[in-house]
Amino acid sequence: MDLRSLSPAAFCEFLAREGVRRFYLVWDEAAGRVQASHPAVEPLARLLEEDRRDFDRHEGVFVQVASETGVLQGAFVHRTCRGQGAGGVRYWRYETVESYLRDGIRLARGMTHKNALAGLWWGGGKGVMARGTGLGSSDPAVRRRIYEEYGEFITSLQGCYVTAEDVGTSVEDMTAVFRCTRFTTCIPPAVGGSGNPSVPTARGVVRGMEAALRHLGRGTLAGKTVAVQGLGHVGEPLVGFLAEKGVAKIVGSDIDASRRELAGRFPGLDLEIRIVERGDNSILAEPADVVAPCATGGVLSPQTIPTLQAPVVCGAANNQLEDPERDDALLQERGVLYLPDFLVNRMGIVNCADEQYGYVADDPRIERHLGDTWDNSIYNLSLEVLEEAKRSGRTPARVALDLAEERSREIHPLWGHRGAAIIGSLVRTGWGR
Ligand code: NAI
Repeated sequence: MDLRSLSPAAFCEFLAREGVRRFYLVWDEAAGRVQASHPAVEPLARLLEEDRRDFDRHEGVFVQVASETGVLQGAFVHRTCRGQGAGGVRYWRYETVESYLRDGIRLARGMTHKNALAGLWWGGGKGVMARGTGLGSSDPAVRRRIYEEYGEFITSLQGCYVTAEDVGTSVEDMTAVFRCTRFTTCIPPAVGGSGNPSVPTARGVVRGMEAALRHLGRGTLAGKTVAVQGLGHVGEPLVGFLAEKGVAKIVGSDIDASRRELAGRFPGLDLEIRIVERGDNSILAEPADVVAPCATGGVLSPQTIPTLQAPVVCGAANNQLEDPERDDALLQERGVLYLPDFLVNRMGIVNCADEQYGYVADDPRIERHLGDTWDNSIYNLSLEVLEEAKRSGRTPARVALDLAEERSREIHPLWGHRGAAIIGSLVRTGWGR
């Protein structure tokens, strides 16, 4: 049976038949291969091992079928030199097991780079749950149980991965996670958390846009036209911040008709909202100064890149390039300045990652990422990356990635390579068996 092409729901049935409730795929450095906890999932270990695009010796992939709700739940840990793997949990629909696994490993790797570039002492990790497996989440009690079971799962991982909110998950859902594990951030302020990270994320994206325009000698955002794909948790406040910067016009698109209501919310702003079909990326071809993908990943591809008219692409969506190397090169050929997501969308994780250290009003440790006095702020680091790209002929994404790779291998000054030690211990003590 070709496991990779099974739907996640059929995969859950397969695991049940094989008597596998939880499994892991762990990188074995000494053997130079991926070790699977159960023979039944060996083909997935080989899939990762043979992949040259997304798999990058991820320290550990852990998956379970939740025992009560039946949802396929995973934790993907990429690299933990700087600290435990940190990144949000996504609840999303996948066609196949392969697309589920690929999304997890790509997102986890992206978190490694994002956290390292932001200077956070955290490694890279991501949670992914597959919509359409187990019980549906429309009943609030069931939904709560899905996230509680996710929290129990994270507890079982002993802290190699610390979860947070992501697409498809709300801050309320995080309360349910928190009830069952201490290894989470992004919990509501009422229980000591930092709440919704989307507003700071939008502020950070604005700083990236400002750096790009300055680098190109195009001045500030005032009077510019910006196209925003996705008017959700990040896209909506982004519109507000851009309005404050004096943009002349914003064209926004969403697949959710209820987002039309935004039109009345910004008096005096020339805001055009288009409701489109899922998969309609025509907003990216808008004749704007900046295009901001703030919906889903993979939207920059050989289909869309030739249609781009804006000189700058800078948005919040994770993994905007369908194929990182190919599409980065295509963007450069097209003469489009692309600021990579992991450089400009860091504020979500910056806002929540260090919740356990408490809060200070207008926290300087957070605000410095948004200013222009700290050399590692989004604005200054973006300028530095763009200048280095121009000087070296590399793309900005390449420059940022090389820097992120280097930083991500720095070992945590107090805790060493703790995540890897935890994963080693999980394997030794028979996790999943
Ligand atoms: P969200 O789910 O609240 O908003 C996404 C919006 O995009 C929704 O309104 C959805 O209807 C819309 N959408 C989906 N497909 C679309 C399409 N083809 N065309 C137009 N609109 C479409 O998600 P959120 O939190 O705003 O995040 C947006 C992106 O930014 C995601 O890729 C997320 O991973 C990334 N991100 C979010 C952070 C945060 O703090 N929320 C932090 C870092 C990254």
